[in-house]
Amino acid sequence: MPPLEPDRVRELLLDWCRADREDAEDAAAAIEGAPADLLEQRYRTIAEDMGGRKWLQWPQPPPAHPLLGLYPVLAAVPLMLEYHRERGVGEDLSRLVMEDVGEKLRLNRRMYGRAGLDTDGWFTAHVRGTIYQLGRLQFCIEGAETRPVIGLHIRGEGGPLSFEAVRDSVERALGFFPAAFPELFGDRDAITFTCTSWLLDPQLRDWLPERSNILKFASLFDLVGPESHPGTNGHDDVRRFVFARTPRTPDSELPADNTLQRSILAGIKAGVEWRVPLGGLALARLGLPLGSRACGSSSPDRADTSAPRCGGSWPGTTSCAWCATGPARTTRSDGTPTAARSTPPSWTASTSW
Ligand SMILES: CC(C)(COP(=O)(O)OP(=O)(O)OC[C@H]1O[C@@H](n2cnc3c(N)ncnc32)[C@H](O)[C@@H]1OP(=O)(O)O)[C@@H](O)C(=O)NCCC(=O)NCCS
Repeated sequence: MPPLEPDRVRELLLDWCRADREDAEDAAAAIEGAPADLLEQRYRTIAEDMGGRKWLQWPQPPPAHPLLGLYPVLAAVPLMLEYHRERGVGEDLSRLVMEDVGEKLRLNRRMYGRAGLDTDGWFTAHVRGTIYQLGRLQFCIEGAETRPVIGLHIRGEGGPLSFEAVRDSVERALGFFPAAFPELFGDRDAITFTCTSWLLDPQLRDWLPERSNILKFASLFDLVGPESHPGTNGHDDVRRFVFARTPRTPDSELPADNTLQRSILAGIKAGVEWRVPLGGLALARLGLPLGSRACGSSSPDRADTSAPRCGGSWPGTTSCAWCATGPARTTRSDGTPTAARSTPPSWTASTSW
């Protein structure tokens, strides 16, 4: 790994990653004690796989070095810049994607009460050039070599997940990926967007208010595969993303400071096991006409009834979740929303990525 001085760590964190000062100072102070061999191993996995789409599973850092994975990521910024330049990606986007590091340092401090980066392997996608922040959303090239998909990811910072923000982001992605990766996404009509997230759990319809952006976001997707995507864990994800707490935090210690937290907590107390489904984005529901591989069905309560109904076009499925469930919601007698079906649709196939 190229030498990384404490001053450079501080500068990259403050200037590029928009980290908080205390995280930047702690990280600058801790680099001198970080085991050089472990830094080198991790850096090499990045440097040898620029542009790679496989998730790099890094071992947990030793408890004494919770920031270990941060340094190889920062040291790889020049590699990322070179990769971006070759693809015509401007430095504004290079900087923007790194702001996720500052956010996750803040999240770690809230979760653990100290500086750390518990999902350090996630940032190897950033510096290997496979993930980009375009407007509100992050987009990551994922999946099989010949037919990759673009995975949507949602940062916690960046404001509400409004319909307009999502549409703006996806529109940007439809311009960006064919230009930067013509060999993968030159055929704009074939671009498929997916999302694997607790945000797509149909059970949320029973607990969140109708005005919730999360529900509106989820309604843009057709669910595919098993109820919970393999390797995911709804229990841990809601603790992390909704409560900023560790997986082992007892229910009684989860905060209930806002509508979202209170809703999720009410579900937990009622015995709901939160899930992390995989969904395919139906571009037609964003008012965007492209994306023939996504389901493309139009929901019955949407204006554009001329859009094609789902014909089971998602790879490996016979019908999409929307068609299986019908309209997403009805209203309880007290005016609160409830799901039209209390059980999820029958899942027809698991996915191959
Ligand atoms: C996804 C996200 C941006 C949606 O936020 P949103 O557009 O405000 O969503 P909704 O309209 O459905 O919910 C609004 C409520 O959630 C609360 N809220 C928003 N972001 C929150 C967060 N990160 N943590 C806890 N509560 C949050 C708001 O305060 C609001 O409650 P209030 O009306 O009592 O003030 C937000 O939940 C978030 O930041 N999540 C963390 C990131 C995440 O989960 N990413 C997906 C990982 S797979």
